[in-house]
Amino acid sequence: MKTQDVLILGIESSCDETAAAVVKNGREVLSNVVLSQIDIHKLYGGVVPEIASRNHVEAIDKVVAQALCDAGITLADLSAVAVTYGAGLVGALFVGVSFAKGLCQATGLPLIAVNHIEGHICANYITSPSLKPPYVCLLTSGGHTSIVRVEDYDRYVVLCSTVDDAVGEAFDKVARVLSLPYPGGPHIDKLAKEGEPTYQFHSVALANGHFSYSGLKTAVINVVHNAKQKGEQINVPNLCASFTKAAIDGLVKRTLEELEKSGLNTIAIAGGVSANSYLRSQVEQFTNKGYKVYMPSLWLCGDNAAMIASRGYYQYLQQDFANFTLDAVPTLKLRGERPSKSKE
Ligand code: KG4
Ligand code: ZN
Repeated sequence: MKTQDVLILGIESSCDETAAAVVKNGREVLSNVVLSQIDIHKLYGGVVPEIASRNHVEAIDKVVAQALCDAGITLADLSAVAVTYGAGLVGALFVGVSFAKGLCQATGLPLIAVNHIEGHICANYITSPSLKPPYVCLLTSGGHTSIVRVEDYDRYVVLCSTVDDAVGEAFDKVARVLSLPYPGGPHIDKLAKEGEPTYQFHSVALANGHFSYSGLKTAVINVVHNAKQKGEQINVPNLCASFTKAAIDGLVKRTLEELEKSGLNTIAIAGGVSANSYLRSQVEQFTNKGYKVYMPSLWLCGDNAAMIASRGYYQYLQQDFANFTLDAVPTLKLRGERPSKSKE
């Protein structure tokens, strides 16, 4: 380890993953521990916030200790601690933030407050050492859907976003009505590959330049309910393929339009839904138009702490440190983001 190397411990607890990672110089993962609570929340068909918080409390010290051990370092080797402080479930975020504050108070290490969504963008820096701003990024997660112009490591301009549900939320709600396990995205992805898009749905791209997912979600739910009332069978793979096409095509089309308008030649995708095989195949085709396409490796698409540590590194370089009044901010937005109509 060179003395000038910057080692950041990342901590992530915004939803149902307790995660810690050590990342060197923003791009090299020395350890990455993700303890998922999915099997617990599956029983309830979605994340139960109180149960999530309790499980984070039980796990966080062990997950952090494991991350340091896997990296072969001690607290004394660290340069700073970066923690997700929003957006997410307030009680869940609070566990990570409190733990990080305690750690920094005890060790004297600087504390870095990371926006979870900015973390997702940084997952690309780990996968692709050559990626540098500026570029356009399509952000698609369980709580977030937007197209962002990444001006620099800490400057983002939100070009358009959803006015209601996030794309991942729509995947999960449609999966639920089809009695698929939580989280539904990967199950719909798998079934869609076995089907054909025979059902017709409106585009999620609105005329005003933004997206709406609640209409698509309701349309799919209506297909299921109508079939049930009439005692008809639904072709589930075909419905999954049709929903996926409708959910992704509008996003991809608008991303290409924004990319063309931007004058930039680089596109990245990020967030849990960036693991979707149809989305990846569609965005991959941008290379035929001469664009450089970046995607996080599949293990970095979902929630993890390596992406938080990577984001923390760029804040470290800016000396962008938090103090001990840091609190969880469950509705934290990306800078420049349009407020969501249905949620505020
Ligand atoms: O980024 P993430 O792990 O958590 C949030 O920050 O929200 O995203 C989780 C979302 C869930 O809605 C999940 O169903 C969705 O990502 N997801 C997928 C796939 N894998 C995960 N959606 C579609 N296709 C997938 N393969
Ligand atoms: Zn996430």
